[in-house]
Amino acid sequence: MINQRNNFINLSRIRQEFKHVISEDEMNNIEGFVRTYQRYQAGANEIGTKLSNLDDDFRLTYDYAPIHSMESRMKSPESIIEKLVRKQLPVSVDNIKENIFDIAGIRVITSYIDDVYSVADLLKKQSDITVLKEKDYIKNPKSNGYRSLHVIFSVPVFQTDGVYDVPVEVQFRTIGMDFWASLEHELVYKNNLDSETKKQYQTDLEHYAAELSDMDRKMRDIFKDLHPQN
Ligand code: GTP
Ligand code: MG
Repeated sequence: MINQRNNFINLSRIRQEFKHVISEDEMNNIEGFVRTYQRYQAGANEIGTKLSNLDDDFRLTYDYAPIHSMESRMKSPESIIEKLVRKQLPVSVDNIKENIFDIAGIRVITSYIDDVYSVADLLKKQSDITVLKEKDYIKNPKSNGYRSLHVIFSVPVFQTDGVYDVPVEVQFRTIGMDFWASLEHELVYKNNLDSETKKQYQTDLEHYAAELSDMDRKMRDIFKDLHPQN
């Protein structure tokens, strides 16, 4: 086990150390950003715990764990600023809260397609969280072949000074969809390919996405036959 010693942000020390160079307004903005960012992280922790609890109970009840793996990530401050600039919005904490819903992100990878929906539905049913937005790119795949279920949840986070509702973006997908999305993502950012080759690979990937989707269904059917009680 590795004990992580994270450098925690000492707001009062920043205030003290930089009081001659940072105005009160600037300091309030920094503090606002740090507190907001931490709340989003807390939101991701809450949803992550809910998901692993569901996975554990599923295993206990059905002798089978639906979640293959999970990844949690925080959007970097650079990407948050980039996104606001792209949307032509002034960079402020209020604009972050009102316009960016994927600061906290969790990716849930399941082995089987049915588990995408069973896990998502069990999470949606929990009484303390609400669904802000949902995009089902499995039922309606993107034209490039991208498939995943995206749900933005609002989750309460209990802080020392009260409760805050925080959005967390959860992407549910199968191993096959994840496999596809990783390669496609890499292709998008590759600039050393000539445009013909890139286009060919995009067409290939579109076909592979359909094949993987076929495979997801066939594997599910065999799995269901092996586990008729589920
Ligand atoms: P963003 O501004 O990028 O968040 O777009 P959006 O608000 O329309 O969100 P959407 O739900 O469409 O997609 C958000 C996330 O899904 C992205 O940040 C990616 O992680 C993933 N995603 C969406 N489309 C694709 C795609 O075509 N390929 C891959 N590899 N990932 C995708
Ligand atoms: Mg995004």
